[in-house]
Amino acid sequence: MNTAGQFTTDPTARRVLISPSIIAADYCRIGEEIEAVEKAGADWLHLDVMDGHFVPNLTIGPGFIKAVRAKTNLFLDTHLMISNPIEYLKLYADAGSDMLVVHVETIDNPKTVIQHIHDLGVKAGLVLNPETPFSLDPGIFAELDLFLVMSVHPGFYGQKFMPEVLPKVEKARKIIDEGGYHTRLQIDGGIAPDTAPRAIAAGADVLVAGSAVFKADNYATAITALRG
Ligand code: DX5
Ligand code: ZN
Repeated sequence: MNTAGQFTTDPTARRVLISPSIIAADYCRIGEEIEAVEKAGADWLHLDVMDGHFVPNLTIGPGFIKAVRAKTNLFLDTHLMISNPIEYLKLYADAGSDMLVVHVETIDNPKTVIQHIHDLGVKAGLVLNPETPFSLDPGIFAELDLFLVMSVHPGFYGQKFMPEVLPKVEKARKIIDEGGYHTRLQIDGGIAPDTAPRAIAAGADVLVAGSAVFKADNYATAITALRG
């Protein structure tokens, strides 16, 4: 997967990327759905892994990601909503993820986890739940390929956007720009044509969208509408 220019320290070279969330797709036609969003202009594919323990839902595992990897060249953005993710990082990297994004609520030492993910040869991200305060040491952004601010409580697609998380996006944007870091700033949950402009204005440059894409009549129009 050629991600040249997608992880750049040059803020002027960064365009808003769209990462459709596959759990909102038609599970009986996953292969066609992936082809359709790729054709429709998706930049990444967002893979929501849920273990029924950290979040009250159960979704996909490494076998699913392996099948998706064989199907597409899209950048696979794996969002691990699982307890004790350390145990599973290698499994999800070997399955074909291009990036592993872990919840700060599920790990003790973000720095070592990021290093471990990089040692597996994939990009690394951290995510904060809506109720989790932003108390990370800004210096960690030097190692981060992605920082994700959840704008819904994780577990399901189709939920309502939570604007109260936007100050965390603004804070992260300031850290990234002042530090000159290459970190991508992602927001996930309830992103649609009416909420995307607020997320982008706050500084997000990667938008996850489940229902706004996969429940739309035309995926290309939906993706364009999100980019603004
Ligand atoms: C929620 C997931 C999100 C969700 C997005 O736990 O992490 O990625 O699937 O779906 P929408 O865009 O419909 O909120
Ligand atoms: Zn997600």
